[in-house]
Amino acid sequence: MNKIVIHGGNPLNGTVQVSGAKNSALPLLCATLLTGGDHHLSNIPQLRDIRTVFELLKTLGAEVDCSGDSAVINADRVESIEAPYDLVKTMRASVLVLGPLLARYGHARVSLPGGCAIGARPIDLHLKGLAAMGAEISLDHGYVEARVERLKGATIYFDMPTVGGTENLMMAATLAEGTTVLENAACEPEIIDLATALNGMGAQISGAGTDTITIEGVDALRPMNHRVMADRIEAGTFMVAAAMTRGNVLVKDADPVCLEAVISKLREAGAQVDLCEDGIRVKGAEEILPIQIKTSPHPGFPTDMQAQFMAMLTLANGTSVIAENVFENRFMHVCELQRLGSNIRIDGKQALVEGVDMLLGAPVMATDLRASASLVLAGLAADNTTEVSRIYHLDRGYERLEEKLLALGADIQRVAI
Ligand code: UD1
Repeated sequence: MNKIVIHGGNPLNGTVQVSGAKNSALPLLCATLLTGGDHHLSNIPQLRDIRTVFELLKTLGAEVDCSGDSAVINADRVESIEAPYDLVKTMRASVLVLGPLLARYGHARVSLPGGCAIGARPIDLHLKGLAAMGAEISLDHGYVEARVERLKGATIYFDMPTVGGTENLMMAATLAEGTTVLENAACEPEIIDLATALNGMGAQISGAGTDTITIEGVDALRPMNHRVMADRIEAGTFMVAAAMTRGNVLVKDADPVCLEAVISKLREAGAQVDLCEDGIRVKGAEEILPIQIKTSPHPGFPTDMQAQFMAMLTLANGTSVIAENVFENRFMHVCELQRLGSNIRIDGKQALVEGVDMLLGAPVMATDLRASASLVLAGLAADNTTEVSRIYHLDRGYERLEEKLLALGADIQRVAI
């Protein structure tokens, strides 16, 4: 077990390189199950969740050959169509093998993910969509079993935009018979990245990035050759870190198109955000201004940035209001931020964040991925020493976070306990 120890107070300065996006790499790796041949992927972040999906692909019979941030995946000989509980419980995105396996083999068994720290997170909309495409779905000993001779195109309306649901059905529909239309689809940039890779494989997808995606099914696909997009949430996390520590950081490869809401809220909070040729530069202002944030599906403010902004707003000059509208239980970081001296009150879906003059370091515990990032950010700005434990959450989604922060001037280290 490791913990992260931070002596706060140093402003962050310099340049930081954003890694490939975890939330894009995961569905892309699952999409390799759609066809045999050598798939080539690059810019894959080296993270715990990625190692889990590699493990899953190998369990199913695929060959995985990694070198640095690249991987060659060959799913010629898929021997199993079952995603086991042990893997799904450590990473919910494992359910993304359901669509590809069902589309290619007509049969898939995937353990139902349980709830998680930030909410119930059911997969009913994934299953409803596959059923509309003709799959017979049953539940058996905690597993979803889906069978079909060949999926048939259908018009599917999502009751709410779901990123994973849109990705699962988009992958499934590539090999279906006829046309599938996904309505009220999620518009996240990772969905565009997946659609681009699938189209490169010979799929016929249009409208990705809008709320209506049309997929003309094809009979066969070829392997992909794709570079994973840059991680907008990692980029956003460094941007907040720069603003919060009154630093000056160029976040290299941060894509402003994917980060509009984050940029706009940082500017509202007083930070200077400049769009440069090779990334986004954030200069923190002396005074952090209070703001209002409402999380919502893309292009709204991302729920995955809510905890980090909350950490920053604990030091604002006034009261901020943060409404979490995507997940029902995503304020777990509040109690830990309170241990550092912040003044936050939760009222249903809203958190009222009354700015304080300073945070004071303390031992804190990470509860989920983005909550962990918010605690690290708070530690960077707090006086004295902050120790963040349970950082295995952090390792699921941030590549070498402490190394990157160290290079920007933070006093931070990983310590074995
Ligand atoms: C993805 C991201 C996660 C991000 C989230 C929302 C990945 C690997 N993870 O998660 O980082 O926080 O999008 O931007 O890309 N829902 C249902 N039924 C379903 C599916 C979803 O009710 O069948 C609900 C969820 O409980 C949640 C909301 O829809 O309240 C959005 O969830 P969804 O977009 O599906 O999130 P994930 O794909 O799991």
